[in-house]
Amino acid sequence: MTALASPITLTTLRNLKRNAQKFACLTAYDASFAQLCEDAGVEVVLVGDSLGMVIQGHDSTLPVTLNDMIYHTANVRRATRHALVMADMPFMTYVRAEQAVFSAGRLMKEGGAHMVKLEGGAAFVETVRAMATNGIPVCAHLGLLPQSVNKLGGYRVQGKDEASATAMLNDARAMQDAGADIVLLECVPATLAAQITKALEIPVIGIGAGVDCDSQVLVIYDMLGITPGKRPKFSHDFLRGQASVSDAIAAYVSAVKSGTFPAVEHSF
Ligand code: KIV
Repeated sequence: MTALASPITLTTLRNLKRNAQKFACLTAYDASFAQLCEDAGVEVVLVGDSLGMVIQGHDSTLPVTLNDMIYHTANVRRATRHALVMADMPFMTYVRAEQAVFSAGRLMKEGGAHMVKLEGGAAFVETVRAMATNGIPVCAHLGLLPQSVNKLGGYRVQGKDEASATAMLNDARAMQDAGADIVLLECVPATLAAQITKALEIPVIGIGAGVDCDSQVLVIYDMLGITPGKRPKFSHDFLRGQASVSDAIAAYVSAVKSGTFPAVEHSF
C-alpha cells in the first residue's frame, strides 16, 4: 500500500467515524517499525508504555519513565510523515492536573507527540480539562488499565457486571465532556464497547473490545507473533502465512478496515 497523502489529524479521525470508516492503530517504539506502519497506511501510531514489557523486559509498564517515553516517541516521529503519533503518559506522571500538563508538554515538545494517552476515567476530568485548555489532545484509556495492575489484582476483562459497565459508560462520557479527543477501551465485553462507541462522538479505539469500535490497536510484537509466552486472546499472529513484516502489517490494516479483525474468538 502507498503512503497516505496528507497528515492524519483528529479531524480526519472524527470524519472517518462519522462516515463509519474504520482506521488502524498499532504500537511502534522505533523508527524502523514506525516507517513500516507509515508505509502500510496505519493512521495512528501509539508509542505505548507497553515498551516497558516488550522492549525493556519488565513484568509491567510501571517502571517506564517520562524520559523513556520521550526517547522512543522522538524515534518514532522521525519516521512518520502522515500518521498521527500518540504517546503514553507513564505511571505517576499525571497524578495532579498541573503535573499532567507539564508531562504531556514534554512528550509533545521534546518527543514530537501529536497527542498523549492517560489511563483513567471520571477521576481525571479536571486533568483532561486542564490539558485540553492548554492545547493538548488526549486519549482516555478505559477498561483494563495496565498501570493499575497491582490494584486490579491482575490483567482481567473489565465491565462484566451491570454496575461496572454503567460506570465505564459514564467515565467515557465524562472524558468526552472534559475535552478528551479519543477513548481507548482495553479488554471490555464487545457489547459494552459497541454501546460506548455508539454513545460517543469522539472515536473509540479497541483492544480486546470487539469489532464494533471505530478502530483497533495491537502491540506490534504481539501481532507479529514475537512476544515471548502465550499470545493474548485478543491478538492474532498476522505474520503467519505472510512473506514479510510489511505484508503482515498491511494484512492487519486491511483486516481492521474491513472489519474482519477482531473475530469473535478475539473478543470477550
Ligand atoms: O501501552 C500500550 O501499548 C497500550 C496498548 C495496549 C493499548 O496502551
